[in-house]
Amino acid sequence: MNFVNCYEDASRSEAYSTLEFANTYYLAYRDLPAIISEHVTGTRALDFGCGTGRSTRFLEKLGFNVTGVDISEDMLRIARATDASGDYRLVPGDNFDELAAGTFNLVLSVFTFDNIAGATKTRIFRDLGRLLTPNGTIVSVVSSPEIYTHEWASFSTKDFPENASARCGDVVCTVITDIQDGRAVEDIFW
Ligand SMILES: C[S@@+](CC[C@H](N)C(=O)[O-])C[C@H]1O[C@@H](n2cnc3c(N)ncnc32)[C@H](O)[C@@H]1O
Repeated sequence: MNFVNCYEDASRSEAYSTLEFANTYYLAYRDLPAIISEHVTGTRALDFGCGTGRSTRFLEKLGFNVTGVDISEDMLRIARATDASGDYRLVPGDNFDELAAGTFNLVLSVFTFDNIAGATKTRIFRDLGRLLTPNGTIVSVVSSPEIYTHEWASFSTKDFPENASARCGDVVCTVITDIQDGRAVEDIFW
């Protein structure tokens, strides 16, 4: 499948950077502090698919020493400008060789795997697993199927009735209504 990561785009990145934790995003992030505090010991974290750094700064506020990685230079440019002391790295091809194996207590991924196709997911999960300490934890937040067939405080799908018949691996579309970019966001149905 020839899937393009729609976040490799300067104006979409600019628009995405205005998102904080309102509406549906409030719900997506709401339970993470409790989940992380229950399942993670230690303070070293990797934010996989950090985007413009919202999820990275969220972890920093929880007390983590965080490295954010992404494949979109446009998103990373804004992350670095917003959080000058943060550690944000481009990982072309999801090559994690620059990161020390066995050193992260937590890998957090918020909505990143919505944008990753098929077998690549498995490969990346395996490689992220190698970066964890022996008792480290991966926490992955992804969109549930219902996201793509209903209206939400932060998303609209009414212009994409074809989402209703999507099967695992198909491209599905949403519009993020909280930002000034009305173009469809393409995801890959889990
Ligand atoms: C929906 S944004 C979420 C950003 C951030 N986690 C947040 O919650 O604000 C998804 C991010 O995942 C990144 N992404 C997509 N595919 C990726 C991949 N294969 N490896 C790393 N990052 C990826 C995109 O470039 C984008 O910045």
